[in-house]
Order: sequence, then structure tokens, then C-alpha cells
Amino acid sequence: MKRVKKLKILKNLYTLKLLGFDYVEDFNIDEKKISLSNNKLPDDLNSLNNIVQNCHLCQLSKTRKRVVFGEGNPNANLLFIGEGPGANEDATGRPFVGRAGELLTKVIENVLFIKREDIYIANIVKCRPPNNRVPNDEEVDACLPYLLKQIEIIKPKLIVTLGATAYKNLTGDITPISKIRGELLEFNGIKLIPTFHPSFLLRNPSAKKFAFLDMKKIKSLM
Ligand code: URA
Ligand code: SF4
Repeated sequence: MKRVKKLKILKNLYTLKLLGFDYVEDFNIDEKKISLSNNKLPDDLNSLNNIVQNCHLCQLSKTRKRVVFGEGNPNANLLFIGEGPGANEDATGRPFVGRAGELLTKVIENVLFIKREDIYIANIVKCRPPNNRVPNDEEVDACLPYLLKQIEIIKPKLIVTLGATAYKNLTGDITPISKIRGELLEFNGIKLIPTFHPSFLLRNPSAKKFAFLDMKKIKSLM
């Protein structure tokens, strides 16, 4: 492990000591093995949601209005994963309801021919990063166990990551999204296809043709 990482862990341990903790339980710091079951989170979405709604594990809790847990069919075959809530999501508590969300919903319904409520939609972080900045490593590390638990509970057949942040933080692979999009991969035994983020498509309409190819591939796998 890198020295700077060790020092960060030590700093956090000292903080816990100041807060009155006598000891902390053994924790897994092997970065290569993000186990789906190494956390003690509940095994049903409602109980998990209750915990996440009251989460203050990272600084995003200070600026959020609403926690955006995710929504959809708890038995969905298809799970879309975005980056994090934007302003509209923060205001409503629902994922992908702004402009990017409208595009995503259109694609789900008009290209995949699936109803939005039949799939599940979640994000890497559940609280809005100020000014829509990319969530930092501390925020992602704090929040990712919730998403991993959601994946474990929902057991989708196919995961679609939207954009570079979702792909990189879920898989740990830093291959650029422009290179890896549309590839059929695997994450913990589940098929995974990375594609562009709908916000990127709104800014770069010429990339829509690639996203369309990705959607056709997704459709063929459903
Ligand atoms: N962008 C995201 O990544 N997620 C949302 O929920 C909305 C916009
Ligand atoms: Fe908790 Fe995730 Fe919100 Fe941070 S972003 S406060 S870890 S729910």
C-alpha cells in the first residue's frame, strides 16, 4: 500500500480515537478485493434506504438537500449506474430526473423498449457534489458499499455504467471511457457494459451514434 494511503488511514484512526473509540474492528484494506459481502449492511432495499437516508459518512452530507438512494424495480434485470445527483435530483430525491435524466429515460423507453420503472437506476454517490463536481476518492470510498449492497440485493443480469466516473469507480479500471465503451465485460459475475453519460451526449451530440450502438448491444443481451 502506498505510504500516503497508510497515513490517511492512520489519520482517520486518530480522529476516531478523539471521538472516543477504544478500538475499531478489523477492516479489509486490500484494494483489489472489493467484496460484495464484507459489510454489515442490511439485505433488503428498504432497510438499506433507511440507513442511507441518515448517512453522514462523507462531507457531501453537509451540502445535500436530499439523499438520492436510487429507484426502480427491485428485481430488475438491468441496472444503470450514474455518477451522482445533480441539482434536480438533489431537490427531488430521485435519480436522473433533470435534462440528462430525460435523455436517459427516452433511450430506455424508445431504444431499449423497456419501461423506466422496470429497470433500476442508481449512482456512485448518493448525495450531490457541490457545483456538480466529480466526487472525490474519500466520498466514493464512503458511499460505494451502499451501491455494492444494492447490486447484491437486486442481482441484475446486466449493469450499464454511465460515463467515466461510474465505470472507473465501480471496476477500478482506468481505461478511458472512449476506449472501453460498448465492450461486454464482467463485474463480480454480472455482465457489464460501459457507455457514455447522457450529460456528455447532451454536450457532444456527435457521440450519440456510439451510445446508440451500445444500446443495441444491450438490447441484444436482454
Ligand atoms: N447525473 C448522474 O450521474 N446521476 C443522476 O442521478 C443525475 C445526473
Ligand atoms: Fe453517505 Fe454517500 Fe451521502 Fe456521503 S454521499 S453522506 S457516503 S450517502
